[in-house]
Amino acid sequence: MDAAALNQFQQQWATYGKLVSENSLSHREVTGILHTTLVDEFALPFNFLDIACGDASIMPEAFLDVPVRHYHGIDLSQPALELAAANLDKLPCEVDLDHRDFFEALTSRTEYADAAWCSLSIHHLETDNKLDVLKAIRDALGSSGIFLLYEPTRIDGEDRTGYLERFQQTNHQLWDYLSKSEWGQIWDHVSTCDYPESAADWLELGKKAGFSSGQQIFKDSTDFYRLFRFND
Ligand SMILES: C[S@@+](CC[C@H](N)C(=O)[O-])C[C@H]1O[C@@H](n2cnc3c(N)ncnc32)[C@H](O)[C@@H]1O
Repeated sequence: MDAAALNQFQQQWATYGKLVSENSLSHREVTGILHTTLVDEFALPFNFLDIACGDASIMPEAFLDVPVRHYHGIDLSQPALELAAANLDKLPCEVDLDHRDFFEALTSRTEYADAAWCSLSIHHLETDNKLDVLKAIRDALGSSGIFLLYEPTRIDGEDRTGYLERFQQTNHQLWDYLSKSEWGQIWDHVSTCDYPESAADWLELGKKAGFSSGQQIFKDSTDFYRLFRFND
């Protein structure tokens, strides 16, 4: 990575890090739900798959007293994976950090995962490509596997324009700890790259991908982000 690209990554990641540390994307709540789900589901060692793991900063808390045997984190960003390596350093399990596109990494796995997690990372894709990724996640899971998906979500009857208007009206005020240029970065990214689905559409995509059941298990207080659980 050249110096300019690294600098751009560091600026964008620092701004994203502010949102995470202010809990503006409800990472705290979803970390708690992931932790409780893993405690309830797994008494024996299991394999965990983290799709677009970023810096994996929530995982030490999510894995507290959880018998994870193997962690496979996939991300396109090498600097993010370096942060992930440091965050996962003390975990008592095998850690495999995979610097690849998630679709490519998912379709070349040789061992089934028992639990898969994907947070804030596939809403950039067109609907058909989201389905392809969900199918690849479904195929990467063993029988009785579970998949948790946390993504921006349009409210019923809202189109993308309405979502973006609501995003700007609500979050520009709410995220007042961001500088003008940091808000500009976020807005530029969201308005050009984000293609959230409605809750019904996320669930329908899960069904089309082959999951036997799916349900919404969390909605954040601003109603921009929702967590879905799918069962193999
Ligand atoms: C907003 S961050 C989310 C990180 C983390 N999952 C979280 O919830 O904080 C999105 C991540 O997706 C990664 N990403 C985007 N497209 C990807 C792709 N096609 N394959 C692998 N990683 C990808 C980015 O590098 C980035 O780390």
